[in-house]
Amino acid sequence: MSFILYQNQLLPREKGKVDMEDRGYQFGDGIYEAIRVYSGQMFLLEGHMKRLVRSARELRIKLPCSIENLTDNLKQLIKRNAIGDGMVYFQITRGAAPRKHYFPDGVSPVLTGSATLFPRDKHREEGIKVVLAEDIRWLRCDIKTLNLLGNVLAKQKAHENGAEEAIQHRGDIVTEGASSNVFIVRGGKLITHPADHYILNGITRLFVLDLASKLNIPVVERTFTLEELFAADEAFITSTGNEVKPVTQIDDHPVSDGKAGEITLKLAEAFDRAVNRVKRATLS
Ligand SMILES: Cc1ncc(COP(=O)(O)O)c(C=O)c1O
Repeated sequence: MSFILYQNQLLPREKGKVDMEDRGYQFGDGIYEAIRVYSGQMFLLEGHMKRLVRSARELRIKLPCSIENLTDNLKQLIKRNAIGDGMVYFQITRGAAPRKHYFPDGVSPVLTGSATLFPRDKHREEGIKVVLAEDIRWLRCDIKTLNLLGNVLAKQKAHENGAEEAIQHRGDIVTEGASSNVFIVRGGKLITHPADHYILNGITRLFVLDLASKLNIPVVERTFTLEELFAADEAFITSTGNEVKPVTQIDDHPVSDGKAGEITLKLAEAFDRAVNRVKRATLS
């Protein structure tokens, strides 16, 4: 039997019900996080919780409990579902109230969460094909909201074209993936879009920036163009689910020689080492 988190309690999955007037359901009025679990331990937990608090503040959604309480409940959820390598997903909506656009008085936030198995990708090094998609999203992509229609349409385009991800661009400027951040390598330097309102500041993105600094790989956080993407020596995406994944084909064009790049693999290996440290610490 699988369990979900509902407000402050764990419930059998089939007991989880959505109120049809929940504003998450009607307006996408809510926020979420997805946290990777390795050997039962949440990875980069602090960064995810910090981003959650920021998203809540930006949308003026009241968190229904303390971060400590939420963390304890998520740990219970992982245990109860016997998750080794997995993913925790949770969302907080503004709550349920008769439908009107402005924030209703006295509405109480609704927290739901799940923990599922999510094995690590063994074929990561082979790289992935991506497609390009015009970025049609709103201008607060820095908030991790439930409103994901632009991302959904971009990902559908990828899916219909046999690709794993869509790289979005506003005109000439590459922003980010449908559910990932995008990096290119040119002349030994990492380049990625700055963390402004055009992208979600990925927790994996931040972790990889830190790894790059430890490995003495120079990084520039600046916008880059489609032309630079096509001319890149290497390209990769980062996300909680994808970790560090090489991009080897964009539409019909190979990236460089069509193989995962050296710096990309160096970062992917450093990422692996960090995961393995977590796994070893859990065993001991
Ligand atoms: C639009 C978007 N950008 C970037 C990311 C990567 O963020 P993270 O590394 O925190 O998973 C995600 C993750 O889902 C995303 O949806």
